[in-house]
Amino acid sequence: MNNLSPFPADLRCAPVSATAVIPIRHAVLRQGKPVSTCYFQGDDEATTQHWGAFENGLLIGVASVYAVTRPYATNDREYQLRGMAILPEHQGKSIGKRLLTVLENALKSNGVERIWCNARTSAAPFYRRLRYVSEGSEFEIPEVGPHWRMVKTL
Ligand SMILES: CC(C)(COP(=O)(O)OP(=O)(O)OC[C@H]1O[C@@H](n2cnc3c(N)ncnc32)[C@H](O)[C@@H]1OP(=O)(O)O)[C@@H](O)C(=O)NCCC(=O)NCCS
Repeated sequence: MNNLSPFPADLRCAPVSATAVIPIRHAVLRQGKPVSTCYFQGDDEATTQHWGAFENGLLIGVASVYAVTRPYATNDREYQLRGMAILPEHQGKSIGKRLLTVLENALKSNGVERIWCNARTSAAPFYRRLRYVSEGSEFEIPEVGPHWRMVKTL
């Protein structure tokens, strides 16, 4: 192992099922809320992809992408990112960056041109670091908090 490696050498990113992402969404994004709030529209669509980051075989982070364009978008070759979540004890170790990069590369190789998300304001610097740019102005999602629309050309 290269000691300078920013993420665990045994980290593996791979597609997972729609049900596999639920416990991590609940623990990270919907803490204290009913588990029913962790099921998103489109989770079971054939075009949706769910991804997981595994360390020593354990699922420690998830992200999902949906064939959904931004409102008013003219190009349909874009996907929406939702449910980006790394377990708290594993945050800040470049795992989110690795998972999102793997997922973006997979989309790009399938002809997707753009990825976008409604980023929590607290997570916006993470997306900026990965070359996402914000659009419009900050807005509120009820029960969740302030967000920015962020977009990246793949
Ligand atoms: C946001 C989240 C997915 C980032 O994953 P992570 O594994 O912790 O982030 P990484 O370690 O890969 O960070 C990559 C880079 O972004 C920076 N970064 C990450 N989160 C940041 C934050 N909240 N504020 C500022 N910078 C941040 C890191 O410092 C790092 O910078 P570097 O490349 O210069 O070292 C993760 O922290 C998380 O699950 N947070 C709680 C849930 C959440 O907010 N999800 C996003 C919903 S839109």
